[in-house]
Amino acid sequence: MWWIFLWLSVASLECASKDLINICMDAKHHKSKPGKEDDLHGQCTPWKDNACCAVNTTVEAHKNVSYLYDFNWNHCGIMSEKCKAHFIQDTCFYECSPNLGPWIQQADSSWRKERILDVPLCQEDCEKWWEDCKGDVTCKDNWHKGWNWTSNPRLNRCPVDAKCKNFTEYFPQPSDLCEKIWSNSYKYTTYKRGSGRCMQLWFQGVENPNVRVTKYYADLRNQAMVSLPAPLLLLLTLVLALSSWGGLRSDGGLWLSF
Ligand SMILES: *[C@@H]1O[C@H](CO)[C@@H](O)[C@H](O)[C@H]1NC(C)=O
Ligand SMILES: *[C@@H]1O[C@H](CO)[C@@H](O)[C@H](O)[C@H]1NC(C)=O
Ligand SMILES: *[C@@H]1O[C@H](CO)[C@@H](O)[C@H](O)[C@H]1NC(C)=O
Ligand SMILES: *[C@@H]1O[C@H](CO)[C@@H](O)[C@H](O)[C@H]1NC(C)=O
Repeated sequence: MWWIFLWLSVASLECASKDLINICMDAKHHKSKPGKEDDLHGQCTPWKDNACCAVNTTVEAHKNVSYLYDFNWNHCGIMSEKCKAHFIQDTCFYECSPNLGPWIQQADSSWRKERILDVPLCQEDCEKWWEDCKGDVTCKDNWHKGWNWTSNPRLNRCPVDAKCKNFTEYFPQPSDLCEKIWSNSYKYTTYKRGSGRCMQLWFQGVENPNVRVTKYYADLRNQAMVSLPAPLLLLLTLVLALSSWGGLRSDGGLWLSF
């Protein structure tokens, strides 16, 4: 009997693992399923073989204020081009990646059902982002919340009590930038690009290096789940032994042969 139980749990975990590996989150602009997109724009082109973003989303991602989120990068003066390139890349990654499954969570917000949490970023990607933005200016460390949205046309402005200061005052370390800016969507790590343990915002060509990273973390999660039924298996074996040994025979026998 116990091996049927084991087989069932392994089979269901195989399914769960596949479900994490090639999916799109249920958010504002994501397609329902990943697929080929030959004409992705600009910095989003590396995802064209398999993407959760549509072409128009990637065109918008490159604008100063796009209709995607009405988000204004220039809320404390004009953002430098080298800094903005990282925010465009971040948008491409967020909108296009079909491999964020292990980090998708329910979101408690009106504009999306799901979000990502603690996606492990490669150290270089986070540090370069911070390096290239450290000469820029902002007024908040969490860019998801707390803006003044009362302007017309709609875009985010600094709330009255938030002063424009150098990036480094709001984000003293690279980890502050990557983790705080989008409410812990990303996690700073010391894993290096190519290690297979961290996600790259930037990559060249169409071979997505994040595919194997996702598979690694999906498998890890499933191994953790496989260990859960172990005490249950032990209990079942014990009941089986007891039932063949004594008084429990009819009850236990019935129950175990369901
Ligand atoms: C992009 O185009 C598709 C199809 O034309 C449309 O359904 C979708 O709403 C558009 N998305 C954005 C972000 O404009
Ligand atoms: C964004 O704004 C800057 C500064 O006004 C301008 O130089 C740049 O061309 C704009 N970029 C786009 C894509 O509109
Ligand atoms: C902000 O950065 C600029 C240039 O990097 C520097 O000259 C200035 O002193 C900094 N301001 C503060 C308040 O740290
Ligand atoms: C938002 O902007 C409006 C218009 O400038 C201003 O009256 C209001 O006080 C601002 N609110 C906050 C919280 O900054």
